[in-house]
Amino acid sequence: MKAQHLAFVLTVSDGVAHGTRTDESGAAAEAILLEAGFVVERGRVPDEPADITEALRKQIRKDTELVITTGGTGLAPRDVTPEATARVIERAAPGIAEMIRASSFERTPHAALSRGVAGTTGRTLIVNLPGSPGAVREGLDTLLPLLPHALDLVAGRTHHDASQG
Ligand code: MTE
Repeated sequence: MKAQHLAFVLTVSDGVAHGTRTDESGAAAEAILLEAGFVVERGRVPDEPADITEALRKQIRKDTELVITTGGTGLAPRDVTPEATARVIERAAPGIAEMIRASSFERTPHAALSRGVAGTTGRTLIVNLPGSPGAVREGLDTLLPLLPHALDLVAGRTHHDASQG
């Protein structure tokens, strides 16, 4: 990636927020995004809708270009990340969430259990990933090639040069 883009990794986990669990997924996402050339900041919240929406809105106000959440996308009663994310998203980007899920089916049918969503608000793209480090790595593998163009569009840089189709 040529320009420096700001990414925020939000770990959604009761255990991580309360300090009883190591944030391996957040660390994995940070490492991958750093390697891809992003400036990365991180946060952690418990599986509480109000905490999740507040953390996301803060990044939207800061015009953070990319917010990756990890965790809380499953079917357990306290998995509320998709609902909290949907509350702050202005425009859903279902294709991104579908692609992430679809690419993981090859590795595990459990990919179907993630209800993660994606979308934009203002100049921020938000993408939910599941809470395991493997799922984060696989999700970002799928997402990264899309990001240069996706972030250009979100930022309103819609100029196409002749080399692009
Ligand atoms: N996707 C990938 N690529 N790898 C995985 O191991 N785990 C699945 C699914 N998606 C998984 C995955 C499982 S077991 C669950 S329960 C859901 O993500 C939701 O996980 P979360 O509640 O931690 O977000």
